[in-house]
Amino acid sequence: MQKVNLVSGMRSTGKLHLGHYMGVLTNWVKLQDEFNCFYFVADWHALTTKYDKTENLRQDKLDVVLDWLACGIDPEKSTVYFQSKVLQIAELHILLSMITPNNWIERDPTLKDMVKIIKSKDGDTTENIPQLNYGLLGYPILMSADIMAMNGAVVPVGVDQLAHLEITRDIARRFNNIYNTKLFNEPMPKLTQIPLLCGVDGQKMGKSFNNDIKISDDEPTTSKKIMQCITDRSRARKDDPGHPDKCEVAFKYYQIFADDETVHQVETECKAGKRGCADCKRQLGCIINEKFAPIREKRKELEKDIDKVYDIVNHGNKKAAEEAEKIMKKVRDAVNI
Ligand code: TRP
Ligand code: SF4
Repeated sequence: MQKVNLVSGMRSTGKLHLGHYMGVLTNWVKLQDEFNCFYFVADWHALTTKYDKTENLRQDKLDVVLDWLACGIDPEKSTVYFQSKVLQIAELHILLSMITPNNWIERDPTLKDMVKIIKSKDGDTTENIPQLNYGLLGYPILMSADIMAMNGAVVPVGVDQLAHLEITRDIARRFNNIYNTKLFNEPMPKLTQIPLLCGVDGQKMGKSFNNDIKISDDEPTTSKKIMQCITDRSRARKDDPGHPDKCEVAFKYYQIFADDETVHQVETECKAGKRGCADCKRQLGCIINEKFAPIREKRKELEKDIDKVYDIVNHGNKKAAEEAEKIMKKVRDAVNI
């Protein structure tokens, strides 16, 4: 049986962190066997907010792909590409923009949040919608074009993207109605069951918060960052009984990265005051380093032959464009353009 198309993308933010790995990449890797997967780096989407900071864009895109391949995204199974190399997406974006009412976009809560963040960075605290670039307003339409150009039926995303995807479904339905066709699927979100990984300071893990551990960090860097993890703040001495449930970061990481037996041992020893936090975090650093050693090794290998990595992406770009062209022929006919 023909596998259905699955589409998902990540903005080109540069080197990915452990939150990306646990929350997204392990899931993407698994989905490769069940679906015909299209995974792309959303470099146009990156421009919607970082249009004036493009000096590192090319390196960032490459870093994202290196992390994907190192983590097990397999170009034999999945199509890996750069959004901006599939011009059909831009073409579809224009056509979809013609049929999308402004107010669908303006009430998109995810977009409103993005605008708020941009505003706060500008030091603007007024309530009214600030300067909103046309490109950013088009964010959900571009995302719809990403999905619809590949005739995507399934889209793995986090909850923060659900509002965008709802717009995609609305746009697909509206296209089918207006042009009296059944061309487009109404793509279904596939929510990722993310064990949400916080940063070493207990806040949301993110590059801009400087609290993240990169997939590609080396062992000493990882160990050093792990030593900064927040533990049970009420604990003064290492023989005080600790509270793993109040250990804000370190114990949470254990639960995510260590096996059940180790978690149980840490819990018992901590509660009994038989485990100091520094030692506990040293062990945690080792566990994480061990887990990521093969991935980091593979990334190093890939870095030695960047031309090969570009070959993979070029091949993916071509495959994605071919897939998009199939549906775009029908789209042009439906629109009579
Ligand atoms: N907006 C998504 C994010 O920030 C990235 C993205 C762009 C995407 N186009 C997409 C995700 C299409 C899924 C499908 O995470
Ligand atoms: Fe957390 Fe480990 Fe310290 Fe207990 S011993 S509080 S689990 S870091």
